[in-house]
Amino acid sequence: MQGDVVDLILDDHRRFEALLRDLRDSSQDRDAVRRAFAALHVAHAEAEERFVYPKLKRKNAVDDHEADHGVEEHAEGNQALLGVLELSGTDTQAFDDAVEELARLVNHHLTEEELTILNPAREAVGPQVRADLGEQFATERNRQIDEDCGRLENVRRIVAEARRTGLLDDEDGDD
Ligand SMILES: [Fe+2]
Ligand SMILES: [Fe+2]
Repeated sequence: MQGDVVDLILDDHRRFEALLRDLRDSSQDRDAVRRAFAALHVAHAEAEERFVYPKLKRKNAVDDHEADHGVEEHAEGNQALLGVLELSGTDTQAFDDAVEELARLVNHHLTEEELTILNPAREAVGPQVRADLGEQFATERNRQIDEDCGRLENVRRIVAEARRTGLLDDEDGDD
C-alpha cells in the first residue's frame, strides 16, 4: 500500500462507507463487519493524527483549529464505535441505534475532512511530500491493524484516554 496520501486516505474513506452500509444490512455478518470497521477506524485515525495532521500543519496547509477539530471528531467516532462494540447482540434495536449514531458521526467527519483538510493538502503540498506522507501513513495504519488495534480493550483504552484529555468534553461541539 503506497501512493499519494490524499488518495490513500480517500480509499479508506470509501472503505468506511462500504462497511457502514454492511453494518446496516441485517443479512450480513454484522459482528465481523463491526470488528473490521473498528480496526480500520482506529488505525486510520491514529495514522492521520501521528503523521498527516502534523505534517500538513507544518506545511501551513491546515491550521491548528482544523487539525484539533479532526482529532476531536476521531474521539467522537471512537466513542460511538465503542457503543457498537459493547453490545452483545447485533439484531437488536440498541444495535441499530448505535450504528445510526456511528454513521452520523463518521459521515460528518469524512465530509469535513475531505473539504477542509484533503482539499487544502492537494493545493498546498507537492507530490513528493504527499508520496512520502503516504508511505508514513500506510506504514503506521498497517502496523496498527497488525497489532489488532480494533480489539475491544484497545478501543476502551483510547476512549478513556480521550475523555481524560478533554477531547470528549464538548459533546455537541461546534461543527
Ligand atoms: Fe480520514
Ligand atoms: Fe480523520
